[in-house]
Amino acid sequence: MDKFIIEGPTPLRGTIPISGSKNAALPLMAAAILGDSPTTIHRVPKLRDIYTFNKVIRHTGTSVEFHEVENKLVIDPTKLDTTVAPYDLVRKMRASFYMLGALLGKKGEAKVSLPGGCAWGPRPVDLHLKGLEAMGADIELEEGYVMGAFPNETIPGGEFTLEPSSVGATVNLVLAAVRRAEKFVINNAAKEPDVVLLCDSLSKMGANIEGAGTSTITIRKVDSLSGTELFNDPDRIETGTYMIAAAMLPGSKLELTGCKPEDLGAFPKAFKKIGAELGINGTTITVSPNGSVKPVSIKTAIYPGFPTDLQAQWATMMSQANGDSSITDSIYFDRFSYVPELNRLGANLEVKKNTVHINGNQALSGTSVMSTDLRASVSLVMAAMAAEGTSEVLRVYHLDRGYENLEEKLNAVGAKIRRVDE
Ligand code: UD1
Repeated sequence: MDKFIIEGPTPLRGTIPISGSKNAALPLMAAAILGDSPTTIHRVPKLRDIYTFNKVIRHTGTSVEFHEVENKLVIDPTKLDTTVAPYDLVRKMRASFYMLGALLGKKGEAKVSLPGGCAWGPRPVDLHLKGLEAMGADIELEEGYVMGAFPNETIPGGEFTLEPSSVGATVNLVLAAVRRAEKFVINNAAKEPDVVLLCDSLSKMGANIEGAGTSTITIRKVDSLSGTELFNDPDRIETGTYMIAAAMLPGSKLELTGCKPEDLGAFPKAFKKIGAELGINGTTITVSPNGSVKPVSIKTAIYPGFPTDLQAQWATMMSQANGDSSITDSIYFDRFSYVPELNRLGANLEVKKNTVHINGNQALSGTSVMSTDLRASVSLVMAAMAAEGTSEVLRVYHLDRGYENLEEKLNAVGAKIRRVDE
């Protein structure tokens, strides 16, 4: 198992190219399975979650070639002959559950392991299953697996209201419906850019989908989908993470290239309130601190609200603000596993229900801390870059799930991060 040894404090000065989005790439990979011919996906990041999903897809007999130098995936589903996604693969990454929608859409049947628990508490899939039943699928649970089947080649469809709105359930329902349902309507659908990209990409393959990016998505069956060239979006969470890192590290001047600022939703608005210099010019974002960070309290919300995937990083920055603040996570009620670790570095955070209260102005000093999940881990790296002295961040395999070349990118702009075998 690898760990990072980080010397601090270090400003970040220079340019970081933003990678393709993990959360947008995964639905595109599932969509490629639905094609009648191979699909090429560009700008796919080299991340552990992508390699895991490659394995899940290959398990079905689908060919997956990852041209790593070009960040290009070629998925050929023409020899797909197995409709199973086994537990030992699905348990490694929850989004493997997209195989349920993809296989039902492709073959009319699927046996997919239930994803199991998550580091930040329960993450149910009840809406995925109820939505599929509303569409006309027979769903049964057997020994930890979901057994799904459509009774006929074509099903009438219907409608389903997601409460709460869910990215994953929207993706699964779209995937299942495009080749099967005469007409299926998803109400309170997720509006996240990842869902819009999926729907646009499926439409490029020949699907009939209306309303992507709004809260009502209507899907009408098409008989065939052709493989094509798809282009993944830049990672908006990676973008936000590096923006926050630059703003909290005095002396930084960071340029992020290849961004899609319009996908950041409410984030830039909150970011402007901290007082940092922010420049957005086409696909390039520049950030530098402007005096000390002002305390800004936030509440996470579905897109275009403040993303839950940036709340741990925001809390880390707020520990350096010149006053107190709070963060309420209204999406996940228990996503604060990073708090005790951040406090070990000298921060002063206290969790009450789904709100974390943050005392600003805390001097951080280097020590050993443990990663607990993906976004928690990057927050510890950011805190370690702000801390005086040497820190160790253990279990960085969490980071490898979602940040492409993290230490290479940060070291190129002045960080001092070494990866060593624990
Ligand atoms: C996706 C992202 C994740 C992000 C999250 C919220 C991927 C691979 N992951 O996760 O990084 O943090 O969106 O933006 O894209 N819910 C139910 N029942 C369900 C499904 C969801 O109650 O069947 C609830 C969840 O507990 C949560 C809310 O709906 O409170 C939103 O979750 P959802 O949008 O489904 O998150 P994911 O798609 O799993």
